[in-house]
Order: sequence, then C-alpha cells, then structure tokens
Amino acid sequence: MAIRRGPAASYAAPPNIALVKYWGIRDPELGLPYNSSLSVTLDRLRSRTTVRFDPALDADEVELNGAPATGGPRDGVVRFLDRVRALAGRDERAHVRSENNFPTASGLASSASGFAALAGAATRAAGLALSHRALSQLARLGSGSASRSIFGGFVEWRAGVRPDGRDCYARSVYPARHWPALVDLVVLVRGAPTKEVRSKDAMQQTVRTSPEYRRRLREVPGRLRRLRAAIGARDPARFFPLVMEECDSFRLVCETTVPSLDYLTATSRAVLAEVTAINRAAGRPVAAYTHDAGAHVHVFTLLRDLPTVRRRLAAIGGVERTLVVRPGPGAGPIRGSAR
Ligand code: PMV
Repeated sequence: MAIRRGPAASYAAPPNIALVKYWGIRDPELGLPYNSSLSVTLDRLRSRTTVRFDPALDADEVELNGAPATGGPRDGVVRFLDRVRALAGRDERAHVRSENNFPTASGLASSASGFAALAGAATRAAGLALSHRALSQLARLGSGSASRSIFGGFVEWRAGVRPDGRDCYARSVYPARHWPALVDLVVLVRGAPTKEVRSKDAMQQTVRTSPEYRRRLREVPGRLRRLRAAIGARDPARFFPLVMEECDSFRLVCETTVPSLDYLTATSRAVLAEVTAINRAAGRPVAAYTHDAGAHVHVFTLLRDLPTVRRRLAAIGGVERTLVVRPGPGAGPIRGSAR
C-alpha cells in the first residue's frame, strides 16, 4: 500500500509573562490549575515550529534550535505528540523542528511559546482544525502557561471548577493595543542558572509543603479581579503595586517551599530593590517588577518613564542587557504551511 507523507505545518507563538501566576496543579492528567492566572503576551519574541508526520519514521525526530533534542525536552515533545496522535487517530511518528528568536536557556518562558507553537503545528499537520480555545486547552498539557500564549494582548486563563476541565481555558480579555503606553523592560541578568527542577514539579512541592500556599490561594482571585480592573482603566497607580504584590506572593510561596525554591540571583534582587527605590523617589508608582521561575526580571513602566527606568536598571552590576517588549499578538500559522 502506498503511504503518503503528511504535509508540513508551521506555527509561530509568543512567550507571555504572568501578572498573576499559575503555580499549583489540581489535576495533573488534565493540567488543571488551582487558580486562574493573567498574563501579557509579548511581541518581538517568537518560537517557530514545523511538524510533519512521516510513516517512514520509527521514532519522532525532534530538533530544537538547530540541534537534536535529548532527555527531558525531547520526552516532553514526544509525550505531547502522543496526545495529538490520540486526538487525530493517527500513529505515524513526526519530524519536529523548532526555533526561538531569543535565547532558549535565558529563562524567557520558552516552554510557553514552544508548546503553543507545537500545538498549532502538530494539530494542523495531523489534519485537525481546532478552535483557539481547544488549541489553548491542548497546549496547556505541554506547559500550563502555553495555554495563554495562543492569545494576544492581556490574557486570562480561567481555572474553572469542573472536574472534566471544560470550563478551564484561556482567552484574551484586552487586545494588545489596549494600553499603548505600557511597556515591559526585560532585564536579563548575567549568570542566570538553568532550572534544576521543572516548574510542573516545583509547583507541586509548593502545594505540598509551603505553609503560605493556602493563604495565597485565598488572595489570588481578588487580586486578579483588581488587576483586570486596573488594566481596563489603564491605571498605573493601581496596576504597578498590584503586579509587585502578586510577584511578592509568588516569591514567598517559593521561598517557603521545602526544600526552598530560590530563582533569583543577587543581581535580580538588586533590580527589585532599584524599582522600589525608583518608586519611592518619584513619590508615586512609576514601575513594577515581576519574575517567573527564573532569574530575569520583567519591569513594567510607561513609555514616558522608560528612559529613566532603563538607565537606572541597566547601570546595575550583573545586568547583561535590557530588552523593550510590548503587549503583542497571539499564536498563528506561518503562511505557506498546511491548513
Ligand atoms: O507553564 P509552566 O509549567 O512553565 O509554569 C509556569 C510557571 C510561572 O511561569 C512561574 C507562572 C506562570 O503563570 O507563567
């Protein structure tokens, strides 16, 4: 029987930075989180992934940033492809090629953009046409934060309450152009360590061991509501303090996890302190720090304050580079690939 190779499909997806963090899974099989989260999808940065199913292959071939993937990263992609194969009723292995236009090991949420791009490319290559919501629900099985990278602008991932996860999905709550003056200054610190424990495992250690975790879960819904309202009103006086309050809450549950999770370097901490000093000197909130499970710091500020904030933060010893990004569009197919 003549077996045809499938068409190649390519998809691009952006990373996102969480303003309200996802940290804790209530159902590992379905990837359902304990709390809803809220993020900004970032422009300029992209993962681009191409997938082609091929009956001649005995095993999936995965290439990440020009080199064959091995170990954990490869296993994660293969497990994700298994989900897509089950969904599409196919069993061919696949060629996967994925590239980031930003340094992968930099801790810039490459798992979010990577799995969002993989979800789009793999489902299209398998002949499936999923809605954005279904794509986001699939992407979260690779990496929770990937569910938000499908959408552009300000994105809420609702935790939902149903055991089957049907009410657990991400959606855009404000478009990318909603708050044109808002910028994210990404402060890349030198010597950021690579993650020792996967976020997925680390967050479950927090759920099990941090005495602060329950309080955090009680606080998050109110904070998310207030942050959404501050974004809706484009109100920096409410937005900046809430972003930092949430980041501090996330850091506290990490630090009180046993064994303790410390993602920051001395330079990251100096960046947080400098943002606090800038706000104090201005007598009003002009910037806000946040970080995820990594050492780099995202500093939100307004365009008019960007030159000062950037100058102050770039002068800190150990800061490698600062990068200006803004809210951007979500994931989508790359033209010329299969539909
Ligand atoms: O999506 P994961 O498994 O890489 O976990 C993401 C965890 C945080 O980045 C710390 C928070 C978030 O909501 O993105």
